[in-house]
Amino acid sequence: MGPTDPVSPALLPMTSVVDADGHLHIGGIDVADLAEEFGTPLFVYDEAHLRARCREAVEAWGDGVAYASKAFLCVAMARLANEEGMCLDVATGGELHVALVAGVPADRLVLHGNNKSDAELAQALEVGVGRIVVDSFDEMDRIERLVGAAGSPVRPRVLARITPGVEVHTHEFVRTGQEDSKFGFGLSSGAADRAIDRLRALDAAGVVEFAGVHAHIGSQVFAIAPFVRAVEVLAGFFAPLGLPELVVGGGLGVAYVNGEEAPPMAQWARSVREACTAAGIGPGVRVTAEPGRSIVASAAVTVYRVGTVKDVPGFRTYVSVDGGMSDNPRPVLYGSGYEAFLPRETGAPRPMPIRLVGKHCESGDVLVSEGFVPGDLAVGDLLATPVTGAYGHSMASNYNKVPRPAVLFVADGVARTVVRRETFDDLVRLDT
Ligand code: LLP
Repeated sequence: MGPTDPVSPALLPMTSVVDADGHLHIGGIDVADLAEEFGTPLFVYDEAHLRARCREAVEAWGDGVAYASKAFLCVAMARLANEEGMCLDVATGGELHVALVAGVPADRLVLHGNNKSDAELAQALEVGVGRIVVDSFDEMDRIERLVGAAGSPVRPRVLARITPGVEVHTHEFVRTGQEDSKFGFGLSSGAADRAIDRLRALDAAGVVEFAGVHAHIGSQVFAIAPFVRAVEVLAGFFAPLGLPELVVGGGLGVAYVNGEEAPPMAQWARSVREACTAAGIGPGVRVTAEPGRSIVASAAVTVYRVGTVKDVPGFRTYVSVDGGMSDNPRPVLYGSGYEAFLPRETGAPRPMPIRLVGKHCESGDVLVSEGFVPGDLAVGDLLATPVTGAYGHSMASNYNKVPRPAVLFVADGVARTVVRRETFDDLVRLDT
């Protein structure tokens, strides 16, 4: 499927249906009705899709698989992931707070972060988070001090974050000798060995329960090979430790545009398990993962309204919508590609080349650099970008004091607002 073909149904949320008039329905509701009722821009999440992906992850990886909440987090999402049997990876005190407010049991949480503060660690200890992924020697000092100072006995279960030195590109990988990263303990530098020694000593002293090793090789990884390579690299280090847990991080890629294909969750899990077995990691070890993007990305579309169409002769046509880099900074930050389509004629060919831009005061405010839309696109149309469920809302900003969009969960003909649209009053609520 090429860029001028209709948007691929594979990029749309699971319950998407195109009616006889060409209108897109998600969760049993016409997207145009959603826009009418809730306004634009609007994040529309297909709740059945979210639940199905969570179940798929639990089925593929087993108990302990964690949803990487940085991809998209609000109270409703934390609850949903918990209801569907996933643990939650939280990387800051803020994410931890949202998960706790959502009622996720603390022992289902995994705390990450390369620079966890005293306050974050103290809260984690106090509420009893399930696992802390230790990222530095400074953090070990802090944990030792805080556990020692705690009134009641706490003994956190910890994993050591190891940097395996497997460098990931979208379709290829190379092994790097030197792990140049702010995360974790490098294998080749000897830092990983020293971290293990220290954690064993802390375990022996009753300060922590040293349960395992964690490695995250990157994000939006399209090939399975780098994950397998990471296991191979880690195995020689991990297997002799005799620890019960190995977490291979997140990173499974998703298709964003027509013609892309990403490996399914089950294949990712199977390949990692096989690599573990082949590398001598026994069946007694709990091997699990932390997918974020692959759970939520294609569950959502963002719906905008077209406000301006400007033809710049000899160059291109700019189509401006009522959001932009404040609700999806990924094109600006990473040069990420997206599709654009009109939900009133979802299955229509898209012969007209355009550049889809937002309403922000800079030229870099691009949503789709080289996009295609149906030729009859007009001012006032709704326009949607699919696969915006991950790292869109979670990285949204108020740049130019643009209020952040509302987030809807739709299912079985019912739409519920899970994050309300910001108002102009919200824009000054922190000002004193
Ligand atoms: N575990 C750890 C330790 C991570 O650092 C991450 C992502 C994940 C799991 C989840 O990875 P995922 O399955 O979502 O790929 N803002 C970027 C992505 C940054 C990912 C950071 N860490 C983007 O929009 O592409």
